[in-house]
Amino acid sequence: MENIEKIEEKAVPEKKKRIFSAIQPSGQMTLGNYLGAIRNWVALQDEFECIYATANLHAITVRQDPKKLKENTTNLFALLIASGVDPEKCVFFHQSQVPAHAELSWVLSTYTQFGELSRMTQFKDKSAKHADNINAGLFTYPSLMAADILLYQADMVPVGADQKQHLELTRTIAERFNGVYGNTFVVPEPYITKTAARVMSLLDPSKKMSKSDTNTKSFILMVDEPATIMKKFRSAVTDSEASVRYAEGKDGINNLMEIYSACTGLNFEQIEDEFRGKGYGDFKTAVGEAVVAQLEPIQVRYKELLKDKKYLDELAQKGAESASKIAKRTIDKVYRKVGLVR
Ligand code: TYM
Repeated sequence: MENIEKIEEKAVPEKKKRIFSAIQPSGQMTLGNYLGAIRNWVALQDEFECIYATANLHAITVRQDPKKLKENTTNLFALLIASGVDPEKCVFFHQSQVPAHAELSWVLSTYTQFGELSRMTQFKDKSAKHADNINAGLFTYPSLMAADILLYQADMVPVGADQKQHLELTRTIAERFNGVYGNTFVVPEPYITKTAARVMSLLDPSKKMSKSDTNTKSFILMVDEPATIMKKFRSAVTDSEASVRYAEGKDGINNLMEIYSACTGLNFEQIEDEFRGKGYGDFKTAVGEAVVAQLEPIQVRYKELLKDKKYLDELAQKGAESASKIAKRTIDKVYRKVGLVR
């Protein structure tokens, strides 16, 4: 009898925790996107039930050329697969293919306060950058992001540190809604790694690495040629101490150490040992080579995948069908609770 009970216990598989994340298809991806988010998406696939999307609805909060947006969306889809996101292991699609994102976003925007949205640093940054187009979508962007996550009842959200504030607001919205209507949404946790959660500009390490920077030497693109990558690292800003160690006031070196650590798996102490008595030139070369070693195989697969866009579209379509089934359960529940005719 004891034995039978044990077998039965084992036969019930433990439910895997669910992960959701998305990336905007707004041009080329940087090393920041890769180390802060993409590689974590890949690492989480085996252990968790992962749902990933290109956030093309978010991308139109800044003006986009329609043809370019479509092309960037497919390219991003290919780049993520080339990086190791596996459509056989996870649900992978384009946000615009599942209308429930927009539907839930509207409902959640009525549970998001003006004051909360006004405090978002991404809104402040983007409205400063696009002063001629501070549209309502740019302002309510976090309600759509909350909808993305809550629609799938995600437990964890792998993102870079710059998205933490949006994640906190998502939690607030979920708790507020649950408080009014009873348990409806899982309240998600951010998944932010210790190293490379905020990859900084190579020229101004007080600023986040971003592709919208006017000086292209400040960022590494995932599709940059190896020679370009090496050159950009060689011109990275450091300090006058000539000692590879992680310390306050050494932002440039700290950033390079984070990048090197993320690419090699070495911790800061091991890196300090490796470069004791060596100059910054050697260190920068090593960082460049470590990054090239990560990105080069991705670039090869990426070029290969882009030859068959029809196949990429089919994969996304399949992903969207699976996503829609999960999303429908949540949106039906929300409409019922709020009293909306379906
Ligand atoms: P996005 O598209 O700007 O960036 C995609 C991911 O890359 C991370 N990231 C960085 N990480 C480290 N260092 C950097 N310099 C760096 N730059 C970017 C971001 O933190 C992000 O994880 N709002 C989101 C997209 C989104 C989303 C979602 C994310 C839409 N819906 C739902 C999670 C869940 C954004 O604009 O990320």
